Amino acid sequence: MNLKPLPNTKSDSLDIPNGVVRETITHVKHYTDRLFAFRCSRSPALRFRAGEFVMIGLPGGSKPIFRAYSITSPTWDEELEFYSIKVPDGPLTSRLQKIKIGDFIFIRKKAAGTVVLDTLTPAKNLYMLSTGTGIAPFASLIREPETYEKFERVILTHTCRLKSELDYGFDVVNTAHNDPLVGELAKAKLQHIATTTRENSAINGRITTLIESNRLFEELNCPSITPINDRIMVCGSMEFLKDSKILLANLGFDEGSHRKPSSFVVERAFVD
Ligand code: A2P
Repeated sequence: MNLKPLPNTKSDSLDIPNGVVRETITHVKHYTDRLFAFRCSRSPALRFRAGEFVMIGLPGGSKPIFRAYSITSPTWDEELEFYSIKVPDGPLTSRLQKIKIGDFIFIRKKAAGTVVLDTLTPAKNLYMLSTGTGIAPFASLIREPETYEKFERVILTHTCRLKSELDYGFDVVNTAHNDPLVGELAKAKLQHIATTTRENSAINGRITTLIESNRLFEELNCPSITPINDRIMVCGSMEFLKDSKILLANLGFDEGSHRKPSSFVVERAFVD
């Protein structure tokens, strides 16, 4: 009797790097010629906290290139969702933007990140300030029941150059409002402020300027932010993070971390 295993002609498992799971694309939506969102299956081994990122790569080639992507879906979702920019000559996004339903992606199992609820101390209100694809971690957090358990009021701001670039934010806020699990909480507690800087829309201007001028708080009908009442998460470009840190430090906020939770935290929007 020959007990030798048959050769694995497909050898799928051999092609998957250590610590990586292979997921199948289930949905792709192109928002603009520069932005798209996609969903994929989720292996039970992939656990994360709302707001964290994972490394994504594509099969093929001798050594897959991995890039950090914030998970935009909530932790209780059976699938994973991501939001990405398309960079024409980007090592990963030039290929990733062409993915279709049924294609495979690689995801490293270890999730990480600072814009999570545990890095902030308790307070009344949570502000999530984002530019561009920096909205990604907050798309997860606004669909997480714990966010609403911890804060009385949750304010998501999203600033982009153009109106069409705000669409993903409207989609995820709409999903949160209509969600069976968090819908009622989101309707009662979540406010969405969408602003543009290079095209006229309902609210124009950088969020840093709108904070300094108090225009944001007039819009929200609430007092200006203070380290006593408010906690702030920031995600976007490096320049935006730098300016936000200065602005928040001037208002008395202190940067938190996993080791020492405090009144604000920042994360850069990764793929650019
Ligand atoms: P602006 O058009 O005035 O530069 P980008 O596509 O360059 O990442 O920018 C996304 C959005 O973030 C744009 O609306 C941009 O405004 C805004 N932005 C860029 N840098 C900053 C910054 N340092 N502070 C506040 N907002 C910024």
